[in-house]
Amino acid sequence: MEKVLVLIVGAGPSGLAVAACLSQLSIPYCIVEREDCSASLWRKRTYDRLKLHLAKEFCELPHMSYPSDTPTYINKEQFVRYVDAYVDHFNIFPKYSTSVESCKYDEVSNCWDVMAHDKVTGLVIEYTARFLVVATGENSEGIIPEIPGLHDFPGEVIHSSGYKSWNNYAGKEVLVIGCGNSGMEIAYDLASHGVETSVVIRSPVHVMTKGLINLGMKLVNWRLPVKFVDFIIVTLANIRYGDLSKYGIIRPNMGPFLLKAKTGRSAVIDVGTVDLIKKGVIKVLSSVSCIREDSIEFEDGKNCCFDSIVFATGYKSTANRWLKNGEGLLNESGMPKREFPNHWKGENGLYCVGLAMKGLSGISCDAKTVAADIKSIVDSMGSFY
Ligand SMILES: Cc1cc2nc3c(=O)[nH]c(=O)nc-3n(C[C@H](O)[C@H](O)[C@H](O)COP(=O)(O)OP(=O)(O)OC[C@H]3O[C@@H](n4cnc5c(N)ncnc54)[C@H](O)[C@@H]3O)c2cc1C
Ligand SMILES: *[C@@H]1O[C@H](CO)[C@@H](O)[C@H](O)[C@H]1NC(C)=O
Repeated sequence: MEKVLVLIVGAGPSGLAVAACLSQLSIPYCIVEREDCSASLWRKRTYDRLKLHLAKEFCELPHMSYPSDTPTYINKEQFVRYVDAYVDHFNIFPKYSTSVESCKYDEVSNCWDVMAHDKVTGLVIEYTARFLVVATGENSEGIIPEIPGLHDFPGEVIHSSGYKSWNNYAGKEVLVIGCGNSGMEIAYDLASHGVETSVVIRSPVHVMTKGLINLGMKLVNWRLPVKFVDFIIVTLANIRYGDLSKYGIIRPNMGPFLLKAKTGRSAVIDVGTVDLIKKGVIKVLSSVSCIREDSIEFEDGKNCCFDSIVFATGYKSTANRWLKNGEGLLNESGMPKREFPNHWKGENGLYCVGLAMKGLSGISCDAKTVAADIKSIVDSMGSFY
């Protein structure tokens, strides 16, 4: 049984950010990660052509900026290199291949009892921690919706987190389901390399250029009202793209920044997908109603055959599977119960970082707030050990 002051679960950007903030405050911690590397989502579960959607100044972790020669929009490799430098700079040594299987609060010892599985030795490791930080992410597991007949589909079915590049799909007909950033970019990756590609667009979506989003973020930072910023960038986007409703792309009533703030849903940053849709290179289809062998039926009555389906249908948090007594912090979906900005603290020294659907800048805020809160409690406790 290892006694630690703070246990951080997950060594993605969130866990690493808390670790860095705690070490700046001279607070000892232990950080565990189920995979064999840090930022495993970025290294193992993202597509090759991924670039950060936001300008680098909105994607920094606490206490360390990007090198000045870094381009405004950085790619996956550059982000991973930044994470590696971050881990080195703050002397973070995550305990890798260590998957937390259960955590519960012990009222007698006032500590969190944690059981973890060491995937290398196969041994069970027990920790007892005064503070527990959930940093396992909103993207812990891919969601694949239930569709009648999907199990009998003879072709390949993958989630976007397993998609790497068009290479594996030459000569195939691919259906991409979902019109968020991943779905739209994967459709572009496939179609721009000659793969027959269709995309299912079911719900309204804001299509934007990255320049417009960058402009909007700057205006919001200058404290202009969000509704006004939304009005400006939607107007500019409509000038840039024209009416897209005839292609099946409909704008939500609420503007993109307000929508992000209220629901966490991001605008789609167009990487060229819309032009391919306009040219008819990418076909847009309505919702899938059912699947019969390799033939897929759509809600508007259409019927097409495909070799592969890529589900770009989002992710979910899995913290509830291992966290007991976390009801004060997380709801049944493993997401914060309380609204931003009061989402990060539960009872008995329990915290979450990176679950506010606010990307890397939200992670940075959460990490600083949580570390400062732990510091103030530790200071008032006197000596813990
Ligand atoms: C494709 C994609 C693109 C994105 N692009 C951007 C962007 O451009 N800008 C932006 O700001 N945000 C972006 N995001 C959102 C967000 O910033 C990233 O998802 C970020 O990696 C989240 O960091 P995290 O540490 O909270 O979660 P993760 O990166 O998911 O890290 C959580 C870690 O916890 C580990 N873990 C999970 N369960 C356990 C367990 N039981 N025990 C031990 N370890 C566990 C996981 O293995 C993982 O390494 C993107 C997300 C995705 C999916
Ligand atoms: C859990 O909270 C999130 C926001 O943090 C919300 O989107 C989701 O609908 C909630 N789920 C449940 C089951 O209440």
